[in-house]
Formats: sequence, structure tokens, C-alpha cells
Amino acid sequence: MTITAVILAAGASKRMKSSRSKVLHPLAGRPLLHFPVLAAVKAGAQRCVVVASPDNRQDVQACLEQLAGVSWQIAIQESPRGTGDAAKAAMPLVESDEMLLLCGDTPLIEASALAQLIETGRRGCLLSLLSCELEEPQGYGRVLRSDDGRVASIREQKDLEPEQESIREVNAGMYFGSVTFFKRALEGLKNDNAQGEYYATDVVAAAAREGSVECASADAGVLQGVNDRKQLNSLEQLLFERIADRHRDNGVSIRGDAEIDDTVLIGADTFVASGVALRGNTRVGSGCTIDKGCVVMDSEIADGALLKPYTVVTESRVGPNAELGPFAQLRPGSEIGERAKIGNFVETKNTTLGVGAKANHLTYLGDASVGAGANLGAGTIICNYDGFSKSRTEIGEGAFIGSDSQLIAPLRIGAGAYVATGTTVTQDIPDHGLALSRVQQINKPDYAPKLRQKLQARAEEKKAAKAKAAAKAGAAAKAKAR
Ligand code: UD1
Ligand code: CA
Repeated sequence: MTITAVILAAGASKRMKSSRSKVLHPLAGRPLLHFPVLAAVKAGAQRCVVVASPDNRQDVQACLEQLAGVSWQIAIQESPRGTGDAAKAAMPLVESDEMLLLCGDTPLIEASALAQLIETGRRGCLLSLLSCELEEPQGYGRVLRSDDGRVASIREQKDLEPEQESIREVNAGMYFGSVTFFKRALEGLKNDNAQGEYYATDVVAAAAREGSVECASADAGVLQGVNDRKQLNSLEQLLFERIADRHRDNGVSIRGDAEIDDTVLIGADTFVASGVALRGNTRVGSGCTIDKGCVVMDSEIADGALLKPYTVVTESRVGPNAELGPFAQLRPGSEIGERAKIGNFVETKNTTLGVGAKANHLTYLGDASVGAGANLGAGTIICNYDGFSKSRTEIGEGAFIGSDSQLIAPLRIGAGAYVATGTTVTQDIPDHGLALSRVQQINKPDYAPKLRQKLQARAEEKKAAKAKAAAKAGAAAKAKAR
């Protein structure tokens, strides 16, 4: 049996107060819409038909294009006339035997709950739906049952009779049944309700009339939807916890409030401290330490790497057992070799560091390649930008750059070369060459006390002049007042 998942994403999403469609808002590193799509595919749907509006069609398409290996199509609902009308818009594209009908705004849905929904639906009923018992059911559609306990229909909050408000069994907005049934039931929908909309929920009453409906009961979490920014935030927290637990189950140690995007991969025996954010297309190897406050975005961190506190890595690659930080910043295009070290207050951009190379303190490396084993002293600055264009610097293997040196690009410093401390390097240095630029130092014996006296006298003179000026100004003001 083949399954299509129809996912509704054409709503107006007024409550988000956003120029962006609700289902495209990011949550733990993915647009909301990715979550139901991925859950449906994992639960066995071979194809997804996503219902978009004419307004968000392009964005929905761009969002789905990010998903490799998922077969999808977009159907258009011309105007937001309700979930039933949206589902109907998808049907011409649905060619499978069975279908799941899901909302695009419920990112906590899990494949296991959908698998249960499918299994329940295949037990001889016309339709299955996911339902949950909620302490506070306000706002959700309620499951109405007949006296013998069979599901009769779903009624929206706005259409409830007062005595029905206490019903705590709510509709999660996810259904499963045969495509022939859905096509028939959706054709028959009417909009005679409080909101004047076509409700997808009315297919439940249709199924109950024709045959029977079964509920698969789900955890209260799965149906939580995002309707406003507060819910976006609280669901994201829940997702971060769920994602961290998934990694913990795979052997990763993660402290409290780490924010790990759904897209991130982490190897076993890695430690992630609190306050860490791992974002986007990031892969962390095994046996790494990502210490407190680090932020890693779209980067690869190889096995055994150590990121000391408050290190920021963006679009870069860090080799095995390399050490970064504390307070280091790798900007896009940085590649740090195996066992190389980048220390505190070091910034790199578009720079490659060879195996075991070191830049331990207060350094800027831009548009450079640094050979294996090279050592860059404290305060080394590569001057790669003249205000108009950037130039490259090459530093050979085993070179030594003394502290407080400026390397003015374009430049080639040979292998094994030596730059003496405080040198401004303006010319290439051959392999094994020494470069130094020095201003002759002057020493004056016993001159320090004399200098102090001179400076003190000057300061006192200034102070006296100031007092005199103030007295004069005071006298003038008094004369004027008389
Ligand atoms: C819906 C259910 C409700 C259920 C709840 C669970 C209906 C009528 N009600 O209510 O019983 O308890 O979900 O979360 O189905 N959409 C469209 N086109 C439209 C309207 C909506 O594509 O014309 C899409 C929205 O983008 C959204 C989804 O359908 O992704 C659900 O719509 P929403 O308005 O959020 O329905 P709820 O009020 O949450
Ligand atoms: Ca909703």
C-alpha cells in the first residue's frame, strides 16, 4: 500500500504578526514545515503534497528544496477557506492508496505517533485520527463520542455547546484513511459553522456515518502547534530537550541548556557544556569537548578537538585533536589542521593552518596559509586589506613569527624562516631566512629620576595656571553682579 502525506501550510498565520508565513519560521535550525514532512516520511509516506498559498508558494518551495531524498509536490489553495478546503486542493495530486492528513504547524509530531495512527487506521475502520487528553483543552477541536463510546465527530472550540467545553479529549489534527474515502468526504464538506470555513475535521463525522472511526492516542506534546511567538519559543525549548536526549542516547554528554539544532550530528563520547549553541549544518566528531558558551555554525569539528570556552566557529573546519580558544573566533573559510592550536583572542578568516601550527595569543590571520608546525607569536597581525582589496600571505612549514609582528600582504614567508620580534614584514622572506626591522634603542644612564622631575614640574605649572584662571573668572563675575 502506498501512502501520501498531505500537509497543510496555506493558512494566513495572523497571530505571528510576521511578514513571513508561520510554517517557514525557524525552530531548532529548521523551518517548522520540515518537522511534519520528515516525520511523515519516516513513518512510511512515499510522497508529500504540501498545500501552500499563492503568497507563500515560493518560500515553501525553497524550504522543501532543502530536504534531500524527500519526494514532494506543492498544491495551491487559492484563499484560506479552512483546513478542509486546503486538503481538497491537494487531492488532484494524490495518487496513492492511502493518505495521512497533517498540519504544517505542529513540529513536535513524531514518526512513532504517525506509525501508530497508520496501524490503527488499517484495523478495519474508515478513518483513524490522533487524539490526546489535555488538562486544558481550550482552543482545540474536541472529540465527540456517542453513548456507546464510538467517535461521532469533531467539534471546534467556537462551535461547542457550553456543556461540551469540559471534554478533554482533543483532536491533534492528524488523520489517516484511504484516498477514495478522503476524496469523497472532502467533496461533501460544508461551511455552516461559526467561522464559515470548510473544516477538515468534518471528515470524521462523515467516516462515522459511513463506517467507523478509531482514535490513536498520542502524548499531549505531539499536537502542540505554533500559532504565536510565545508558542514558537516554548516549543523550541521542548525540541532542544528532545534533540539533546537523542544525542545522549547515542553516547554524547550534554549539559543543561545547550541549544543543538535538529540538523547537527555529534559523535559518541563528545562533551557539550551548557550555554553552547551548535547550529545549522554542523558535524562534531567523537571524543570532542565543546566547552561552555561556544557557538558553532555550519562547521566540521573532527574527532578529539577541544573548543575551550566562548569560542565562535562559523563555516570552518577544525582538524582532529586541534585546540581552540578560549575566546577565539574562526570566521568563514578557516581550516585548522590536526593538533594545531588557536589561542585566546585569535581571529582567523579564510585561512589554513597546517598540522601542529600554533597561534596562541592575540593574533589576526586573514587570507593566509600557514605551514605545518609554524609558530605565530603573540600579537602577530596579517595586514591583508588595504581598504580596497585583499591579498594573500603564505607562511612556510616550521616558520617562526616573533611577537608583535605585522605581515603586510601580499607576502611569502619561506619554510623555516624566522621573523624577529616586532618586525614589520614588507618583503618576501626566502626559506630559512631571517627578517628583522629594528629602530636603534637609546639608553641614558640615571636619566629616569630627572625625567620624572621634569614631568612633575610641568604638571604643577598647568595646575597653577588653571587655578589662576578660575580666580580671575570668579572676580569678574562678582564685579558684574554688583
Ligand atoms: C486545527 C483543527 C482542530 C485541532 C487543531 C490541532 C480544524 C478546523 N481544526 O485547528 O480541531 O484541534 O488543528 O492543532 O481543522 N491551513 C491551511 N488553509 C486554511 C486554514 C489552515 O492551509 O485555510 C493550515 C494552516 O497553515 C495550519 C493548519 O492548516 O498549518 C491548521 O490550521 P489552524 O488554523 O492552525 O487550525 P487550528 O485552529 O489549530
Ligand atoms: Ca494550529
